[in-house]
Amino acid sequence: MKKKIIALALAFVLAAAMLSGCGGGGAKTYKVGVSIYKFDDNFMTLYRNELESYFKSKETDSVKYDVTITDGKGDMVEQTNQVDDFIASKVDVMIINLVQSSSADTITQKVKAANIPCVYINREPSEDDMKAWEKICYVGADARQSGTYQGEIIRDLPDNGDVDGDGVVRYVMIVGDPENVDAQYRTEFSIKALTDAGIAVDNLFEQRGDWDQAKGQELAANALAQFGASIDVIFCNNDGMAMGAIQSIKAAGRTVGQDIYLVGVDAIPEAVDAIKAGDMTGTVLNDHVGQSHTAVDAAIKYINGQSVDTYLWVNYQKVDK
Ligand code: GAL
Repeated sequence: MKKKIIALALAFVLAAAMLSGCGGGGAKTYKVGVSIYKFDDNFMTLYRNELESYFKSKETDSVKYDVTITDGKGDMVEQTNQVDDFIASKVDVMIINLVQSSSADTITQKVKAANIPCVYINREPSEDDMKAWEKICYVGADARQSGTYQGEIIRDLPDNGDVDGDGVVRYVMIVGDPENVDAQYRTEFSIKALTDAGIAVDNLFEQRGDWDQAKGQELAANALAQFGASIDVIFCNNDGMAMGAIQSIKAAGRTVGQDIYLVGVDAIPEAVDAIKAGDMTGTVLNDHVGQSHTAVDAAIKYINGQSVDTYLWVNYQKVDK
């Protein structure tokens, strides 16, 4: 009788172990919680899809990854709830693209209390916030570099961006989300590349477009209506907004490369096509493949109990015709 009970108990423990993570064929399944600041974002959609497929490619017969990706919907309260849910479901690691970079510490305190390592991506927390725990890291690209490259693409044109030859590069700046260092640095460093080269500039118009194509179109249309032929260059903090600007440039009867220049950042496929077609002067590759792979590799290191450097940087690259 005693033997029977022990055998039964053993069978029960085995079955429970299989249900709780040791998936089919004896594989161990790790849970990964990913939250993206919002799904409705061109660049972060490429990034998110690559994250998912790279996790798949890292699976083996003995290791599986159960990846849950949630949409933060641009709402920090919503995203904080998602993090709470990930903690409740005992994920092994999180990858978080913050809605608000300034909320990093709130999230870090939660994951730290639950002892769940966290990889922050794309929206950089402050340096101080990155010191809060040794099991957090940031994967991103240095936004100063992307701004500088945008400015250099314009600087290196035969007319240095002064398309109407009046001696001053008069520009429109369509800004992403100003809470985000990507927007702040791209806005600053694109122009710095021109002024560092001794080029005179005039800021005609600068407004936030929140990385959004429709807003980019509307702002470019407003700027073109207000400042018309005096605009030499439209700088967009990303390609999404530049895709909108192309529509407004065409609607205003202007021609990129002839009487106006247009640059973005990301090198999304639509922008690369636009550059080939002559509708855009250039862009800067924001390497979503390199960044997503680096983030997944870091998450897997955490899963394996290894340590990870606090900052993991991926380079930008200039893209022109
Ligand atoms: C930037 C990217 C933008 C947008 C933003 C979201 O790095 O260039 O297109 O995705 O991240 O934070």
